Amino acid sequence: MRIKYTIPIVFFVALVVIEKENRIISRVSDKLNLKQTPQTPLQPGAFSHLVLKHNVSFPALSKDFKVMKRRLENYSEHQEVPRKGRKHVLLLATTRTGSSFVGEFFNQQSDNMFYLFEPLWHVEKMLTLDTGGTNATASAKAYRDVLQQLFLCDFSLLESFIDPLPVNHITTNLFRRESSSFLCEESVCSPVVKGVFERYRCKTRRCGPLNLTMASESCLKKDHKVIKSVRVRQLENLRPLTEDPRLDIRFIQLVRDPRAVLASRMVAFAAKYKSWKEWALGGEEPLNEDEVKKLKGNCDNIRMSAEVGLRQPPWLRGRYMLVRYEDIARFPMRKATEMFRFSGIPLTPQVKAWILKNTQVSKETSGVYSTQKKSSEQVEKWRFSLPFKIAQVVQRACGPTLKLFGYKFVSSEKMLTDKSISLIEDKVFRV
Ligand SMILES: *[C@@H]1O[C@H](CO)[C@@H](O)[C@H](O)[C@H]1NC(C)=O
Ligand SMILES: *[C@@H]1O[C@H](CO)[C@@H](O)[C@H](O)[C@H]1NC(C)=O
Ligand SMILES: *[C@@H]1O[C@H](CO)[C@@H](O)[C@H](O)[C@H]1NC(C)=O
Repeated sequence: MRIKYTIPIVFFVALVVIEKENRIISRVSDKLNLKQTPQTPLQPGAFSHLVLKHNVSFPALSKDFKVMKRRLENYSEHQEVPRKGRKHVLLLATTRTGSSFVGEFFNQQSDNMFYLFEPLWHVEKMLTLDTGGTNATASAKAYRDVLQQLFLCDFSLLESFIDPLPVNHITTNLFRRESSSFLCEESVCSPVVKGVFERYRCKTRRCGPLNLTMASESCLKKDHKVIKSVRVRQLENLRPLTEDPRLDIRFIQLVRDPRAVLASRMVAFAAKYKSWKEWALGGEEPLNEDEVKKLKGNCDNIRMSAEVGLRQPPWLRGRYMLVRYEDIARFPMRKATEMFRFSGIPLTPQVKAWILKNTQVSKETSGVYSTQKKSSEQVEKWRFSLPFKIAQVVQRACGPTLKLFGYKFVSSEKMLTDKSISLIEDKVFRV
């Protein structure tokens, strides 16, 4: 009997909440004079990150009205309409997992490819600056919204996070512009402006500041869109992208042995990982508990995303692929073929040539056992630089992650450095 009464009440409360959010959004939209086209409805929550940016709540929005208006002007003006054969791929990874290398496979498919390298760098930087810390919920929303717009060739939301704010959609500050072939193509290359300092220059040709209107127009002509990011924490947060009828999105999650990742980070980000090093060298101080917690948190995020992906819920069916960096390093061409096939993007001779050249697998020796053995030694090199006691900490913090991805535990220093034992189990991840 109780159920009869509770359901309508809950329903009513939900309606009130939804209605309230809609009203706020339409009020904000009215104020900002946003153009809404039928294909690009503003989504509830679309402003949450911007509100956070200015550290004000909705009622106080008018204070920042002018800035907001400028930032959101022509939001969603350039967007693509759905077209058959268009593919959208998000390469999800974490730092030091080889994602730049794997991203480059796609970047090399340059003639029909829109490839972006870490656009969310700007979002993370701005949110961190503005709030003095990161709010995971707000970041996740901002990341998702920016990605969604970028896949639709719309840079305006990303623009709002670029510092300094682009003027007339022109910027000299896009993070690692030169890492996207697409952004240095003739059609996106504006004339060089004397005296304008550009942080990230094109390597292939001399270009002036980046005109994002040109980038957007050129993007609309490309069939394949690939974005690489090390910033998305949970695959589940990206579910709305799978529900957008304008997108045909696939996710490739790239993972690597967490022990190897830590070994690599200790070198690449030496200052940040100083306490690990000191502890490993036998310093007096015990290992910082927060560091271990962070490590565990990272591993758990990666594992939870993979668990969602491998479970294949209906919204992800056929859209998720898990790849281990170790497999790519050992069998680059085979794994590249699988990734391109999964993405529905043709693997061009140009891409193949690049892979051959950059994996030192020459045509004559590919498939030969000795070559493979050499590559696998390379991929397990960390075993001779990571102290055993750190490997143990990682195994404790990231046990379930190691297990899921098929990385063998080591029980002694001897086992860690025993070349005859591979720590990579053969594992096929069915999708
Ligand atoms: C925004 O769009 C309007 C109308 O299309 C145009 O007049 C205006 O110049 C645009 N603003 C920017 C900053 O591009
Ligand atoms: C984080 O962001 C969410 C969503 O915007 C908000 O509801 C929450 O209050 C924020 N948390 C903090 C600690 O600021
Ligand atoms: C940027 O590109 C657009 C589209 O090609 C063009 O209309 C605009 O004039 C360019 N802006 C500048 C400052 O060159």
